[in-house]
Amino acid sequence: MSRPPAASTDAAPRSVCPPELEIARLPSHVAVIMDGNGRWAESRGLPRVMGHRAGVEALKSTLRLCSDWGIKALTAYAFSTENWARPGDEVNFLMTLFERVLQKELRSLEQEQVRIRFLGDLEGLPEKLQELIADATERTAGNDGIHFNVCTNYGGRRELVRAAQRLAQRAADGELDPLQIDENSVAAELFTAGEQDPDLLIRTSGEHRISNFLLWQLAYAEIHVTDVFWPDFGPEALTRALLDYQSRQRRFGGLDPISP
Ligand code: IPE
Ligand code: IPE
Ligand code: MG
Repeated sequence: MSRPPAASTDAAPRSVCPPELEIARLPSHVAVIMDGNGRWAESRGLPRVMGHRAGVEALKSTLRLCSDWGIKALTAYAFSTENWARPGDEVNFLMTLFERVLQKELRSLEQEQVRIRFLGDLEGLPEKLQELIADATERTAGNDGIHFNVCTNYGGRRELVRAAQRLAQRAADGELDPLQIDENSVAAELFTAGEQDPDLLIRTSGEHRISNFLLWQLAYAEIHVTDVFWPDFGPEALTRALLDYQSRQRRFGGLDPISP
């Protein structure tokens, strides 16, 4: 009888949080708009899709760094409800890439105690990808490490419409008094239900917009924009983003500054 392969013993060593960062004041939840893959590739004379492939490596390294440095949740924007407007070849490449990466990385996600979830209208994705997503979600659901949320076919407006529909349905069914609807009940109908709101939003490639990302959840996030294209986002860029975050005073509408 053949034995399953032994657990890998050559896992990369854990990286240590850079000394210039205060561990006690790291954001709990980091959200990232991974932008600039196409421009990264074009600037090298490569087809755009090569940028997406390189972007996967940046995401893997960012997940590992966040996990090693003690950040509790990472939410990454991988494909928006608007990205279907791109040429069919690019969309197909991305869907196949998501499938391949999920297949290849599941084992190490399990070993590293990552809890992966996919946020968005998953029914709109290719069936094979939906199956891989369901499997990965189930197999990592009990893990106690970093929460890794991958926003796929995600749109903030669509998420809010869906929440409104679900609340309206419960009201129509007589289960819910409309006057009892509050912020908690809306938040509980979002894909992010149960997750704390992001403390820090990072957008790469120099664009100063949210592009329909986490419209509700980013209400009080600190925003860091970097000119770095996503495939070049590594430990230095992450450290700069976290230092920027630690330099902020959060006020949440009050007058007393709350240092992160
Ligand atoms: C982000 O990079 C990845 C996705 C939106 C899937 P882009 O593909 O948007 O790269 P640019 O912005 O065109 O350079
Ligand atoms: C946002 O990037 C979506 C993702 C990173 C998945 P886009 O490249 O789609 O955003 P816009 O079109 O520049 O606003
Ligand atoms: Mg872009």
